[in-house]
Formats: sequence, C-alpha cells, structure tokens
Amino acid sequence: MFYQRKWWKEAIGYQIYLKSFKDSNNDGIGDLNGIREKLPYLKELGITLIWITPFYLSPMDDNGYDISDFYQVDPAFGSLDDIKNLLKEAHDIGIRVIVDFVMNHTSDEHHWFVEARKSKSNKYRDYYLWAKGKIVDGKEVEPTNWASFFGGSCWEKDELTDEYYMKIFSKKMPDLNYRNPEVRKEMQEVAKYWLDLGVDGFRIDAVAHLGRSEELIDSNLKTDNKYQPDWRKFSNLPVLFDYLKEFKENVFDHYEIVTIGEVGGDASPKEAIAYAGYKNGPLKMVFNFDHCWSNNVWQLEKSSETVKVDLLNLKQVFDKWQRKQYQKAWAPLYWLNHDHPRLMSHYGNPQKRFLSGSMLATALYFMWGTPFVYQGEEIGTTNYPFKDIREFNDVGVKNSYENSLFKSLEEEKKFIFQTALKSRDNARTIMSWNASKYGGFSQSEPWFHLHPDYRSVNVAAQLDDPDSLLTYYKKVFELRKSEPYLSTFVYGSYQQLLKRNPHLYIYLREKEKKILVITNFFDQERVVNLPRFKVKKILLSNYSDTRTILANVLLRPYESIVYEVEK
Ligand code: BGC
Repeated sequence: MFYQRKWWKEAIGYQIYLKSFKDSNNDGIGDLNGIREKLPYLKELGITLIWITPFYLSPMDDNGYDISDFYQVDPAFGSLDDIKNLLKEAHDIGIRVIVDFVMNHTSDEHHWFVEARKSKSNKYRDYYLWAKGKIVDGKEVEPTNWASFFGGSCWEKDELTDEYYMKIFSKKMPDLNYRNPEVRKEMQEVAKYWLDLGVDGFRIDAVAHLGRSEELIDSNLKTDNKYQPDWRKFSNLPVLFDYLKEFKENVFDHYEIVTIGEVGGDASPKEAIAYAGYKNGPLKMVFNFDHCWSNNVWQLEKSSETVKVDLLNLKQVFDKWQRKQYQKAWAPLYWLNHDHPRLMSHYGNPQKRFLSGSMLATALYFMWGTPFVYQGEEIGTTNYPFKDIREFNDVGVKNSYENSLFKSLEEEKKFIFQTALKSRDNARTIMSWNASKYGGFSQSEPWFHLHPDYRSVNVAAQLDDPDSLLTYYKKVFELRKSEPYLSTFVYGSYQQLLKRNPHLYIYLREKEKKILVITNFFDQERVVNLPRFKVKKILLSNYSDTRTILANVLLRPYESIVYEVEK
C-alpha cells in the first residue's frame, strides 16, 4: 500500500493564501483569477498541486474561514465560473487543485445559525452546540471554563434564548454539532458538490475538533488564565473517527482525491495513523504542528534577544514522525502555513537569505511525504515589522489584546513585541511579485501590508537569477521528481545520522538509490566525518565547490548537500 504509486504522493504542493496572493481586478484583494494569472509561474516552480484557502461567501471575520454559504463563491474572490476556469486551466498544465473544506463551524451569518438562534425549538437549533450557563456564587458563568483558540471562553451567550453556544474559534464562528446526523448529511452534500465540480480533494480545516466531550465538566488545568486551554476536551476524541468514516464511505471513496486533515499540535503519530493509516484511516494524510515551534519565540521578551532554533528538538520530531508513520500512513512535508510566522524569520537568517533558505528547503523536502511550499517561502519572505496593535488584522490577536489587562505601557509593549514574532498575520502579508508600486500584486492599495523590503525581495528579482533562492527551490523539486531518483525520494526509507549533533541535520534515504542529505543549520562552520560513505555524485548543493570525500569535511555556514552514495 505504501509503495502503491499515487499522484498525491508524488505531487509537489503549494499553499495559496488567496486574499494575499494576486489581485486581478484591482480592488486590493487577491482573487481566483489572480491565481489563474500565476499558474505559469507555479508550473515553472515545479508545482503540481495547489491548496487554495477558502473562497466561499463570508463576512470575513476570519478571512474566509467563517462561511455563510458553503455553495457560493464570495464576490470579493470571484465567481463560480472563475473556479471552473481555474480548475480547467490548472488541470490542462498538470496542476491539481485542492480547496479548504471547513467542517467544524459556520459563520454566525449562515442561515442555519440565523435560524438556530431564533428559538430552542427551531429546526436548526440542534445543528449547533448549546448549553445552559452555570450558577457560581450566585452569578451566571459559562457552562465550562474551557478556553477558545482565539482568546476568551469557548462559549458565547445568546441573550434571546438564554443559552450559550460553543465556538472554539471566534464568536462569529459557531461550532457545528456532529452528533446530529442531519449536519453530517448536509456537510457530505457540500463535499460532493465541490468534488463533482472537479476539485481534486480537500484540506480539511480543524478536523481534530469534530468530536466534543459529552460531559460539560470544568477543566482541572490550573494555568493563570481565566479560561483553561484544555484542548483535549474537543480535540482528537475517538468519536470523530466514526464521523469521518461515514464521510469516507459516503463521499471520499467515490473519487480519486486526496484529503488532508489539519490535526494541529496535539495529535500523536498513533492518532495520525488512525486518521490516515492505509488500513482503516478515513483520510489520506494529516498536517500536524509538532515541528512548527522548535525555537525560543515563546520565551523572548525584548528585541535585543534573538531567535534561536532548537535543532535537537526539531530532529527528534522529524525522526519520530518519519519513522513512526513510515509504511503505515502518508504525510505532508511543510515548514509553516498561513497560521504561522514566516519561515525565514523563524528558522532562517534574513541576513543570509539564500544560504539559510536553501538549507531549510534541502533539510525538509528530501524526506518522504508530499511537499507543501507556503507562498513567499520560495523567495525568503520575512516577518512584517509590526510595531502597533492597529497594524494587526487577526481576530485572535485582537481578542487576546482586548482580554489582556495590561498594568503598564511596558507590559503592552511586550505583548506587541511577542505577538509580532508569533503572529499568523506575518504569513498573510501581500505576495511580492515585482518592485513596482504595490509589489505587482494589484494596481490599488492592498488590503494588508506589503513587506517594506519588497522592492528587493520579490519574484521578478529572483526568477532568472541562477543563484537565487527561487531558482534553488526549482532545483529541489526538479531533483525530487527526476528519474531515476523519484522513487527513492518519494518512497524510500529514512534514517537519521548523528542524532545527538545539535548543529547538523543529516539523513539517509534508501530504495533503488542511496541518498545522503547533509545540512548545517547554523551560521558557523562545523566538521562532519562520515568516511564510510563513498560519494557517487553530488545531486545538489548550495555552495559551488562542494567536497566529494566525506572524511573530516568542514561544512560552511548553512552548507547543504544532497549526495548519491554507493549502496
Ligand atoms: C485555520 C485557521 C482558521 C481556523 C478556524 C484553522 O486551523 O487554518 O486559519 O482560523 O482553522 O477556521
């Protein structure tokens, strides 16, 4: 099963955050026709699969993840015809298209919710999760003390019917009740609609949360927060696998598609296999977040402190997931997505953009799994220099700011400094295509920030430069897809070497070929001594004069090499 060839195992993916990718009608908002314009670029980069974030009708509380009609395209993003044309043009040049399927919640402006909140006996009431408040010391409080991912409680009071509805994201995103078979049926119809239209599968948003603890009992976590971040109350609970199996049998199995669930930071490899295992998994793969925060950004307090990568931890995480899932389930390979800060600022070094960026690409994209590049990663886009709370757009940041009781200006400044390092708004800045006004994204002022360095860091500046990061990304994917190496890169075994070395990440891939990938993660020289490997060929490297003898090699800052070695 593992070795069975499938298009989605051999694909090279690219995530498009629609609102910020390319604006075709000059209203300052990225749109579907903007993607159509950029298909030749994606093709040139070597991409064969794109994931597009939500384009459905939405009041945009969470930039489209709050959907008020699953069957309509939001006019800000285009029309149904635009989607159809995009699918056709992408398919014509060998690019498959997956779209976000947001199953966990709707917008509060979805007609189901508008109806549901009218009365307790409304036909749609049971589409959502409702509970009575609790009386504590004579005062009414939320049904439980569970937190929401976007700050505050995961419950919101509905005054008219005097009950609380559950919302683990924003209060404008009420959670659907999957215990109700009607909800499951409705959502299966939604999935069928888009599959019948020709999409090649789904990235399933927040899939880990479809099952909820039946018992509304307070969390016994004791953090300083008023509401406890006890995500296990609504993450990865066994019942959700029953729901997903029903989706698989009724919908997914009837199409040659890929389904990728977002399971976040909480799932173990065992759970990932329950989701995406060959034997019984309802999905094809899952995105976990384990490798996304392997640095000190949660501890930094002031700008004089620098971001440091914890490579030992990162290596353990890679080792765990690459080995435990091998031959049991498939997996995506990605550094970061639209919910994270930019890779270059997080794990790279903006002063050495090419070297650190090419090292990171080498380290990740030669493991087994399906690569997913996040827009702008290929040119080394960095975090935005946020300085003021008004510069942020994310509803989660705004909620956290409002819920914080700052005792001094210093505390507030610290909040902004820390948020700037971690915020997902970094990933949502406008894609820089060229050095013209508005970065070639639009002729009008974009809805969000363009990075101040866009005149030098942009696609046009790197496209024809043989020494650019973008060109290096092209080479990575050319090599990964090339014969006779493809089967080893895609399906070969993985073995990490020098596991306790805190500076170097080195691994072997083996099947028809034997490949050794060596990366120096830092800005210092390091010696590596691996004389037992005899080099047959240098397949890729980010310095032009790479050594071919592996005894006591001095690796230069961020040096990365892919060798074919003798078996
Ligand atoms: C998406 C986020 C979104 C949330 C709610 C996720 O995990 O990736 O961008 O805010 O789900 O839909």
